[in-house]
Amino acid sequence: MSAVLTVDGLGVAFAGFKAVDGVSLIIEEGELRVLLGANGAGKTTLMDLISGKTKSTQGRVHLRDTDITNWEEPAIARAGIGRKFQIPSVFRELTVRRNLEVAGCGKPGVFANLRFGLPRAARRRLDEVLDLIGLADEAQTVAGTLSHGQTQWLELGLLVMQDPKLLLLDEPTAGMTAAETLRTADIIKSLRGTHTIIVVEHDMAFVREIAQRITVMHLGQVLAEGDMASIEADPRVRAAYLGSKGIH
Ligand SMILES: Nc1ncnc2c1ncn2[C@@H]1O[C@H](COP(=O)(O)OP(=O)(O)O)[C@@H](O)[C@H]1O
Ligand SMILES: [Mg+2]
Repeated sequence: MSAVLTVDGLGVAFAGFKAVDGVSLIIEEGELRVLLGANGAGKTTLMDLISGKTKSTQGRVHLRDTDITNWEEPAIARAGIGRKFQIPSVFRELTVRRNLEVAGCGKPGVFANLRFGLPRAARRRLDEVLDLIGLADEAQTVAGTLSHGQTQWLELGLLVMQDPKLLLLDEPTAGMTAAETLRTADIIKSLRGTHTIIVVEHDMAFVREIAQRITVMHLGQVLAEGDMASIEADPRVRAAYLGSKGIH
């Protein structure tokens, strides 16, 4: 196995408050890592540090062998870390297929290039991604008319089209119905193995469905790491969740 992401003693302080405090993680190729923790534990800030949105004040981040610590956000994205935000970046006026085509080209001036269509391999890939995100029947639908859940799946599809080395998903099921949440778990499960993913999620049904290895954060630090059973049995995890909504 080889590490895709190595986070070593990473941290940031905001006016003296350590939102992330000496976090170390190794994410292996093809791994699906779940990040758990009560509100304010530092999960989003950790993703901000990894993706370059926030600059760290301690520690290092390596993407494979490249030290990307405190690179600018676009450079980190180009190096292969893709992040899904809550607010969709889909082109609302374009069809689902066209959105995926644009994402697949990944370069400025794509609209001009697209007059000649995508190469066959890219077209095949696009069809695979359409199936993966369950939007094959909506390929010609204008993205602006999709439901909330479908929009989130398209957003995920756009990321997958860019073929990042590492995908960061922060609460991908927020605002979704129970059925949409299950469907999202299926999509993420089908990425497992071929993609390397870190996902922050509160919905324990979802976590149970997808989780292999879980990292629990508390007060900016890693509190525990292991499989679902060991995390649930860990008294420190139970204690940290007391007073919050708890592990269900
Ligand atoms: N830019 C910032 N300035 C000051 N405090 C911040 C900033 N970003 C996050 N924090 C604080 O850091 C802590 C961790 O926040 P966050 O990473 O959003 O937690 P989580 O995603 O686990 O709920 C919180 O106490 C939050 O208020
Ligand atoms: Mg958060």
